[in-house]
Amino acid sequence: TKHYNIAVLAGDGIGPEVMAEAVKVLTAVADKCGFSVNLNTALVGGAAIDASGEPLPAATLALCKTSDAILFGSVGGPKWTGLAPDQQPERGSLLPLRKTFDLFCNLRPGHIYPEFADLSPLHPRISSKGMNILCVRELTGGIYFGEKGRTSTDAFDTQRYSITEIERIARVAFEAAIKRNNKVTSIDKANVLQTSVLWRETVQRVAQHYPSVTLEHMYIDNAAMQLIRSPQQFDVLLCDNLFGDILSDEIAAIAGSLGLLPSASLNGSGFGLYEPAGGSAPDIAGKGIANPIAQILSAALMLRFSFGQEQAAQLIEQAVQQCLSQRIVTPDIEPNSSYNTVAVGDAVVAAIHNLSVNNMPVPT
Ligand code: NAD
Ligand code: IPM
Ligand code: MN
Repeated sequence: TKHYNIAVLAGDGIGPEVMAEAVKVLTAVADKCGFSVNLNTALVGGAAIDASGEPLPAATLALCKTSDAILFGSVGGPKWTGLAPDQQPERGSLLPLRKTFDLFCNLRPGHIYPEFADLSPLHPRISSKGMNILCVRELTGGIYFGEKGRTSTDAFDTQRYSITEIERIARVAFEAAIKRNNKVTSIDKANVLQTSVLWRETVQRVAQHYPSVTLEHMYIDNAAMQLIRSPQQFDVLLCDNLFGDILSDEIAAIAGSLGLLPSASLNGSGFGLYEPAGGSAPDIAGKGIANPIAQILSAALMLRFSFGQEQAAQLIEQAVQQCLSQRIVTPDIEPNSSYNTVAVGDAVVAAIHNLSVNNMPVPT
């Protein structure tokens, strides 16, 4: 039987709360599908700072390096914002992990399923048409990683992109579009930014290798607006690091909640870090009401992209859809809901037990 070593880094805030549910789900699906998972936990982010003084301890990095994949919760919170920039949880752990493993490709799939369009805050006139967007975000370049500096009176951040960096993420977007609805919308600000001009030219050139895919370029401001006006016009959204960060939160909100949006951060060799698009949610941490679905679906993406366990991934996705359709959801989606984090995790596990592996509906 197949055996996978997974580094489990729950992190801060709601991270440990939602991670506990994802672990339950992983264990249940492994049992059902006949593979085994070896889950090794390690400290990261603020939790690691509190325990050892460092956001990414050597032991945590070593565990990641010897694991088959990383399941990540979230890091950061008000307790650590006063630290020096490089010592903070986000810049001291998550960004270095992305860079160390060359996780340039961040996939964030967002859906409005017609049968639960009412989860979306958009007007039913719009949400009833559904949404099925894959946000393909460049994750190891751009303004996040360019030269930075500050004095007491000014500060700067630099956005740089090379053709090589743009080409490799563009190829991912086109390859994904071929398996979906054959459309790529590339997001930029080419009316102002030099990096965007290079981005646009490069994406245009990569597109020539994918004649079946329709390529459209759209400015970021218009895209932010079009997403709420008519999200069904999009298939694959190709974004740089910063624009993808912003639009993916918007996609999550359109789907119903930031707590629904999973993500896969991949390098070119099948290694990945899997984490919710949202953060540590300090405003609700410790209350037991965080939505565990983004973390659970991130585990499903891990099974799909790092382990090739497609059936197990679909089993989790079907189970989640069952819970959503029965409105077993946390209060971020339905304010009066009495289901908490654990109740939703339990419901997903129960649905997994009841679903038949050989009779899986075709995913949408
Ligand atoms: P956030 O994503 O943590 O929260 C934004 C809003 O969404 C909050 O109201 C929160 O309650 C809600 N929310 C997010 N996830 C939810 C869930 N699973 N269930 C229910 N509600 C959820 O963003 P923020 O408040 O801007 O940032 C808080 C901290 O998280 C910061 O330190 C930030 O840097 C960090 N952060 C970390 C990651 C990560 O580790 N991957 C991602 C984003 C933000
Ligand atoms: C995300 C987060 C991170 C990002 C932060 C925590 C560094 O917002 O994964 O979307 O900006 O990439
Ligand atoms: Mn973000």
